Amino acid sequence: MGADRIADVDDVPADDSFLFTVENGDGDEKEAILVELSDGAIVGWLNYCMHWTDVNLDTGDGAVRDGELVCRKHAATFEADSGVCTHGPCEGARLDPVEVDVRDGVVYLADPDYEFVRTGVDDGDPADLSTSPGSRIGF
Ligand code: FES
Repeated sequence: MGADRIADVDDVPADDSFLFTVENGDGDEKEAILVELSDGAIVGWLNYCMHWTDVNLDTGDGAVRDGELVCRKHAATFEADSGVCTHGPCEGARLDPVEVDVRDGVVYLADPDYEFVRTGVDDGDPADLSTSPGSRIGF
């Protein structure tokens, strides 16, 4: 179905978030995270707080605390499975979902709004260019 491989399920830490980068239809790169739920399911969210949407939840060292996603700016917490903010200045708001699909131990991007760019974010991370022909790197 044209789905892009993001990572192996084993690459997603059991108690933390996994950073990757997608591109929307306008060619803008967006940071995203994978989170493994307690039942083993994997969900995807854009990596931006709903309070100040330019603030990343995962700044490189994980965003999961006690099974919830936490924004360190003003301590908003989000349910990992629903993305709903349960506490904090954006209570009731919901993170932007990124649809993913797991097959045979591999997590694929399955969201028609996004294309997979690379694992990790920015240029400081090892880029996996092999699966993103034609993607633009940098500026
Ligand atoms: S920016 Fe995330 S809680 Fe304020």
